[in-house]
Amino acid sequence: MMSKPKIIGFICNWSLPKEIGRVSSSRIYGYPKIRIVRVPCVGRIDPAIVLETFVKGADGVLVIGCPSPDCHYIEGNLQAEQKINMLKKLISLTGLEPKRLRLEWVHPSEIERFAKIIDDFRKQVIALGPSPLAEERPNTNILRDIKAAKAATEDFRLRVSVGRERELTEKENVYGEKISQEEINAFLNEIIKAEFIRHKIHLLTKEKPMSVKEIASITNMKPRLVLCHIVNMRRKGMITLDHVEKTTPLYKALEVQ
Ligand code: FES
Repeated sequence: MMSKPKIIGFICNWSLPKEIGRVSSSRIYGYPKIRIVRVPCVGRIDPAIVLETFVKGADGVLVIGCPSPDCHYIEGNLQAEQKINMLKKLISLTGLEPKRLRLEWVHPSEIERFAKIIDDFRKQVIALGPSPLAEERPNTNILRDIKAAKAATEDFRLRVSVGRERELTEKENVYGEKISQEEINAFLNEIIKAEFIRHKIHLLTKEKPMSVKEIASITNMKPRLVLCHIVNMRRKGMITLDHVEKTTPLYKALEVQ
């Protein structure tokens, strides 16, 4: 059984219990089992950094921020919640367990709860076992998928859509309509899935030129759906035709600016 899981805690400076807040070390005294990265507000955490932490072999990532309405940046904690929801959806497409990522709210007066959250998360990560990316020979399929998820979080369309989620559900659009949470969830799920698969195809065709059929078999998708993504990726300058073997076109990734 894993006894020393590698856990990274991205913790808002303002939610750290006061007794702990004065300590400057990244390993908080009394909490040696978690590596702390202090942030000015959890709303500032870049989703790509969280996924990079998993790429580097973390067994778990814990994000702790201020409860509403205590966020010093007003809506930073709500923005963090949207980003973590997006990350969990992306991670669930990769083969890594979404439970390796957790978001919690803590008030600086709640020192006992702070300790309990860390202990509970640690137990949960131990129960999950070592990350498949933490081993000497990481699982290459999951590693590729996490890299695809990371690239998807850097996609402009996904960033803008997640960033505007609250505005879209709370305010009326130019036609005087409000979009329901269910509609926005369905819309975001579709974008998350599409961007993930496009970046996965991009990484696959970076390794070697591939046909639609090969990509479909690796990604477990229907060839016509793969073709739709390739058409979209060609339009965005992510992929190009490399050569034709007999009558089969093979595609290769282009460097994305
Ligand atoms: Fe703590 Fe924003 S200031 S979560």
